[in-house]
Amino acid sequence: MDNTQKAYKKRGVDYGLSTTMRTLPREYYQSEAIYGEEIEKIFGKRWLFVCREEEIPEPGDFQTVVIGDESLIIVRDAQHQVQAHFNVCRHRGTRICSAKKGHFSSGVIQCPYHAWKYDLSGGLKAAPLLNEVADFDKTDYALFSAHVGIWGGFVFINLAEKPIPFEEEMGALMNRFGDWNLAELRIAHTLEYKLNCNWKIILQNYQECYHCPGVHPMLSKRTPFRGAVHDCFEGAVIGGYMEMTEKRGSMTMDGKAAAPPVGKVSGDDLQRVHYYSVFPNLLLTPHPDFVLYHRIRSVALDRIENDCFFLAHPDVIADPKLMERFQSAVEFWDLTNREDWQVCEQMQLGLKSHRFTRGHYSPFEDIAYAVDQEVLKALGHQLPEMDRRV
Ligand code: FES
Ligand SMILES: [Fe+2]
Repeated sequence: MDNTQKAYKKRGVDYGLSTTMRTLPREYYQSEAIYGEEIEKIFGKRWLFVCREEEIPEPGDFQTVVIGDESLIIVRDAQHQVQAHFNVCRHRGTRICSAKKGHFSSGVIQCPYHAWKYDLSGGLKAAPLLNEVADFDKTDYALFSAHVGIWGGFVFINLAEKPIPFEEEMGALMNRFGDWNLAELRIAHTLEYKLNCNWKIILQNYQECYHCPGVHPMLSKRTPFRGAVHDCFEGAVIGGYMEMTEKRGSMTMDGKAAAPPVGKVSGDDLQRVHYYSVFPNLLLTPHPDFVLYHRIRSVALDRIENDCFFLAHPDVIADPKLMERFQSAVEFWDLTNREDWQVCEQMQLGLKSHRFTRGHYSPFEDIAYAVDQEVLKALGHQLPEMDRRV
């Protein structure tokens, strides 16, 4: 029995039959009410990936992120700590900052309406004329803050007042990929995509390679789809790896490495590409020679921004010749991404049909099924898995 078969058995699924693995009903892709629940219970409560530490290197550097009705300012404070503040002025509730990224000069976050001023840690520093009000205490009016967690240079935030501890949620990831020295890698390239599909479709698509033979002819040569080995089946972190056919190769246009191995990557990892999703919005794909990751931002029920980043060793980025070679990885993944996006958008369109209720996963999509289970668990929904209606 191979690892995949063992995994099915662990899940209580008969290998090759998979009679229990129904897909999510179409409402999970079409209903504004369910999407509203996801905003509240998933995006409002789980750890969300926002940016890399290197994107806000100096005190005052910031990015903003919109999550449902909320907007957050992610900023490096005067003590070089990363902070996340709700982008809401404590005077009358105005959204303070409309830029996507930038730098707060003089260490001041200033509301554009009546010029209340906050420091980078969110403390209220100046509220014009309110010093004349006897019982007004500035310490009562700091910006609301969100929780911040950092792993390997990846910055996560959590909007909940009492979130699941970061280390607990990310448990399966914490001890992985130490050999990559992730924190020292830097963004070598970025691809930005806007897609017309629900965010869950991208996570499901990422986790299964049942579609690979038809959708990704080139990728299927590099990593035959039956070679997927999954080792994390539940919780926030799920995924596994695929064996590459090319010795010391990588996921590039010609199958050869895009760069020397990163960090201390050695042994079996020189032959593998790892695929882990960090629920609900980071897809992390360490290769031997670089790290690919996608940041999914849900904009609406049927719209996402899906940005794809390539991390490489700073020595590679500094060398134009090495970067020229690195383009082979960028070209490969841009091609593969676009192949995926097309079927994902087609799925969103097809799911509008009222004749479709639920589908049926194949044995090779057990990990996509695991994504759905995490969604249902987070929403507190239960579905009749043995419902044979089609
Ligand atoms: S609403 Fe921000 S200063 Fe008035
Ligand atoms: Fe794909």
